[in-house]
Amino acid sequence: MPMTPIASKPAHVTKKPLSVPPALAVRAVLALRKALLRAADAVVPPQLAVFDLVAGAARTHMIAELARLRVADLVEAEPLDAAAIAKKTGTNADAMARTMRAALAMGLFTRDAQGRYVNNRLSAPLRSGDVESVRSLAEYFGGGSNMRAWCEFPETLRTGASGFERVHRKPVWDWFDEHPDERENFAHAMMTMTLVDAPGIAATYPFDEVARLCDVGGGRGTLLSEILLHHPHLRAVLCDARGVLDSAEEFLKQRGVRDRVELVPGSFFDAVPKGCDAYVLKNVLHDWDDERCVSILENCRAAMRPGDKVLVVEALVEEETDDFGALADMQMMIVCSDGRERGRAEYERLLEKAGFRLARVLEAPTPIAIIEGVAV
Ligand SMILES: C[S@@+](CC[C@H](N)C(=O)[O-])C[C@H]1O[C@@H](n2cnc3c(N)ncnc32)[C@H](O)[C@@H]1O
Repeated sequence: MPMTPIASKPAHVTKKPLSVPPALAVRAVLALRKALLRAADAVVPPQLAVFDLVAGAARTHMIAELARLRVADLVEAEPLDAAAIAKKTGTNADAMARTMRAALAMGLFTRDAQGRYVNNRLSAPLRSGDVESVRSLAEYFGGGSNMRAWCEFPETLRTGASGFERVHRKPVWDWFDEHPDERENFAHAMMTMTLVDAPGIAATYPFDEVARLCDVGGGRGTLLSEILLHHPHLRAVLCDARGVLDSAEEFLKQRGVRDRVELVPGSFFDAVPKGCDAYVLKNVLHDWDDERCVSILENCRAAMRPGDKVLVVEALVEEETDDFGALADMQMMIVCSDGRERGRAEYERLLEKAGFRLARVLEAPTPIAIIEGVAV
């Protein structure tokens, strides 16, 4: 196994609230991207467009390995040709030259006249350290445990059951407990994705109506910290597995909100802390089947007084959806314990079963919604 050439730098995290993206611009840019991709496919023979789709696994593996080897960090430090990259990463020179050529052909990196690679707009996010880094996401997605779960796809399609649990014989969260490096990678990947949505969520929901907020399954506290920075009156509780909360400690300090957050380790299948007037569940329910969603929501309800709020924060995936929503749903099907993306009516049903009334659905500027349930 080649050594990792550069250790990850800690993510740079600001103590200021992040700026809220304009909703119209976000929607327009996403719609334009989709239209341009469709138009590109429309002008080539369909076989070519399908070949491009079929080759997705090759891309996943290549990018994940370049991410794991920190190639974007290496060429950020100094322009390097493929032979130098191979030497620094302990890889085969010919294989690395062909991999870098393929990465270049896909639009990652640029190559100068001396054959040295430097980062471009698409490879720069693969560097470690930046808030926007997608290195952990690439590494997680193309990592062995996720890829082996995807190899079980035919069985999942036949039975509907999780590929991850079939091949690894345990739920993904238990796996992470036994593989702390992977858990860290996943938590970092989640942080990167949540940072995209967090400022919009913090600005969209009237958190001025809340005094004490609990983030249930809140990971490192990415969303919670952003909400706290936007709303200085708020105090909060963050719940997750003990191992996850260990890395939340440092992150919350970096964001300057540690003294406003109580950390409560434990499972939301056992209990949820009492004493808050609103409970956030962001990208938690999509990990579970209906029965376990109701059990999580019931535990929230048991901690709440009538009139308190539960805020289910999820992408609403209806029958008509985009590729992000559809692929997220596939990932939940393969990796989670019968997880799925859901639409508004499905969340309303889950809320009602657990003792809530759906009060309103607020759309954030990015494609994520805040589904507010009121405890009845
Ligand atoms: C998809 S992540 C979402 C993290 C965070 N809410 C976010 O959106 O960035 C799901 C989270 O649920 C946590 N989790 C899974 N099972 C749990 C359990 N039984 N009790 C508490 N947290 C759990 C995981 O550790 C993980 O942080």
